[in-house]
Amino acid sequence: MASNHSNKIIAFHSSLGRWYATHGRRNLPWRTAGDPYPIYISEVMLQQTQVKTVLERFYFPFLECFPTLESLASAEEESVLKAWQGLGYYSRARNLHKAAQLTTPALPDDLEGLLALPGIGKNTANAILAFGFRKPYAVMEANVKRVICRMFALKNPTTQELWEHAEALLNQNDPFDYNQAMMDVGAMICSPKAPMCGECPAYKICKGKNEPSAYPAAKLSKITPVRHKRIIILQDANQRVFLAPRDERFLGGLYGFLEQDELQKQIEWQGKKWALNAKNQIGTLTQTYSHFRLQAKVHLIQLTTAQNGKEWFTRDQINALPLSKADEKATGILLSFYNTL
Ligand code: ADE
Repeated sequence: MASNHSNKIIAFHSSLGRWYATHGRRNLPWRTAGDPYPIYISEVMLQQTQVKTVLERFYFPFLECFPTLESLASAEEESVLKAWQGLGYYSRARNLHKAAQLTTPALPDDLEGLLALPGIGKNTANAILAFGFRKPYAVMEANVKRVICRMFALKNPTTQELWEHAEALLNQNDPFDYNQAMMDVGAMICSPKAPMCGECPAYKICKGKNEPSAYPAAKLSKITPVRHKRIIILQDANQRVFLAPRDERFLGGLYGFLEQDELQKQIEWQGKKWALNAKNQIGTLTQTYSHFRLQAKVHLIQLTTAQNGKEWFTRDQINALPLSKADEKATGILLSFYNTL
């Protein structure tokens, strides 16, 4: 692809390149990986999770469990969810697993092929092409969006407008370093609240530098709704507890204790009813998700009979199951309840 860039943009590319060579996070492991598979994993992890968290806790352990696309494709979904535990947005893990099965032994190296896979949108597809295959595609995650809004003084751009700017600005001769550098400028210089415009490689061509906080226009902050629930831990006569895989989209595939609305003050199990009250409440927990905050009372209900079935686990077995954050906290409450008895 021939580029018809103005001198200003060519000068920006060299300024950005120089800045990246000295200040860029060039040794992030997915930037030195080479192979498209770990790059794909990193891009999916980084869709909704910060670099620091991915780097410190998730990237290496996940690749140790699933070092190749084939190993991911042939794994059980439960073990993929277990390796994802704590990262949240579990549909990412389910989609990774499905995509690996669809595309093994190799990821496609073209836009259409990548977009056809579950969990891969335009930004992730472009990132895989730019970083995994060194093709001239523009990456536009949240940090780059902010940089572009400021560079072009855009208050409320449409996604289409943002892509047009991102694509027009791309350095097609060096898409790998260019895109990584744009993300680093967003993360390290062009921060939401205190951008360091004086140190920015885009200073000369940036149209927003005199009033960076005006771009993009601030969104009205949404009030997070609170859901009040009861988490109910059923325990049988053999001290095994009930945990079942959830089948709903949200947290689907993860194991969970029973859960119901706080207004429901009793639970029915095999035709018997138990009141849910202060006597069997062993703790409370809160967990913030992207679209609501959970506030839950945790109850322990002791059954007098032994139960059979694959959904009954000893307390030692629980930690091997993929659990949501809330169920992990409920497990912690259960274990400390027994430790302090
Ligand atoms: N966010 C998405 N992709 C990234 C990358 N390659 N480096 C840093 N942050 C990212």
